[in-house]
Amino acid sequence: MKIHILTLFPEMIEKGFQSSIIGRAAQKEILSLHGVDIRDYSLDKHNKVDDYPYGGGAGMLLQAEPVFNAWQSVTGGRAVRTIYLTPQGTPFTQSMAEELAGEEELVFLCGHYEGIDRRVLEETVTDYVSIGDYVLTGGELPAMVMIDAVARLIPGVLGNESSAEEESFFNDLLEYPQYTRPEVWHNKKVPEILLSGDHRKIAQWRLEKSRRLTEKVRPDLYEKYERKQRLTDRLLKDKRNYIHMIESLRRGRAEIIWWEGEDILLYDRSCKLCMITAASKESGRLMLAYAPKETESFVTSQVFLNEMLCGSGGSDMGDEGESYGGYEIHCECYQLVYTQKVPLPVKHKDIRQLTMEHLDYVGSRYSYDGREYVEARIREGVMYGAFVENAPVGFAGMHNEGSLGLLYVEEAYRRQGIAVSLEAYIINRTLEKGWTPYGQVIVGNEESFALQEKLGLYRSDRTVWWLEKIKQKGQA
Ligand code: ADE
Repeated sequence: MKIHILTLFPEMIEKGFQSSIIGRAAQKEILSLHGVDIRDYSLDKHNKVDDYPYGGGAGMLLQAEPVFNAWQSVTGGRAVRTIYLTPQGTPFTQSMAEELAGEEELVFLCGHYEGIDRRVLEETVTDYVSIGDYVLTGGELPAMVMIDAVARLIPGVLGNESSAEEESFFNDLLEYPQYTRPEVWHNKKVPEILLSGDHRKIAQWRLEKSRRLTEKVRPDLYEKYERKQRLTDRLLKDKRNYIHMIESLRRGRAEIIWWEGEDILLYDRSCKLCMITAASKESGRLMLAYAPKETESFVTSQVFLNEMLCGSGGSDMGDEGESYGGYEIHCECYQLVYTQKVPLPVKHKDIRQLTMEHLDYVGSRYSYDGREYVEARIREGVMYGAFVENAPVGFAGMHNEGSLGLLYVEEAYRRQGIAVSLEAYIINRTLEKGWTPYGQVIVGNEESFALQEKLGLYRSDRTVWWLEKIKQKGQA
């Protein structure tokens, strides 16, 4: 990821990150941090970049032109996500950090003095963000807070992959208390259960501690957590048809945008995906009015929703006025769920996590979702390859939203159980995380159904549809 910071104090950012984990990741070129001095773009021989506000008032404002030129110097006018740090912005959250972590390039614009001329903000800024209800002297510290929270989610930045998943705010709960050696300190003993070696019991103890702590200090978060639990319990009554929603909630990816009885709208911010099920056309139409505008994909459970999403808008849209056209059906799938808890045998012994050195191999064989998509899956560490004499002969992985897929086996190695081994291997990795493995198979792909059923996955009785936003001409 490339990060540009437009600021009057570039050295503050550079020095601030120098000796941190983020600075080290920049040295290793996992990300790039580029401070841009707005003063270098002053039009004035004294390098002046501020002036008095029209209409009077305290303090000075940053002028539009130097800010615009600094922004142009890094973007060349391209539509790059540009974040302006301001107490008037949307509160920064973990889910916002997760979404931003999926961007290739970010620009942070740090204000100083009393702010920045509104006109340049209108031409450059995509997101106005605040890090809390207090006023700081400038946007540098907020930008650093955001960069730290976003960058640590980029694969490879933290040494230990799992630590980003387990910490505070994962699944709306605060982190449980932790202990290290010695076993007794100031007469306080480490809780017995943590020494037991019983991982299931330890996980239960930690969850309980997390819940109690969250309930006490963050009742707002706890309420959100409880609501998700209640919805998950309800969806579990029809597990196979709603496994996509269940797992998205359980894995801490989805937010509930709407839930009333049978009407449910979830949003997975990090893949810009809405999942929707509606009891009637009317409620479906109403819910769609609440779907985030930036939604790239929908997974729908009813045909009438597809008609609304694929339409060109207009009279059918009711009084809410908005048109929800602009999407097209990508595929129709059955869902398949692995309902057991026991890991599967894996016959093929040489299965390994793929790395960037395998990108060309995978990219040239799996073209369905595009090369960038494959690259992101490898970076996330969710692609696995089957090897024979050190050469890859097939692969499988986990999609962005969490379903199993991206399966391919070389022609010469088919019908030897390699696909079964690859999928069993990924099922086992998924179980280790405490998740329920599931996949989605396009209607008519009988070969894939046979494979899933052989592995013991159960098929849903209804289908879901994937819809994708229609790209404007010229868009990638
Ligand atoms: N600039 C000054 N105060 C700020 C805050 N709380 N959040 C983001 N940017 C700021």
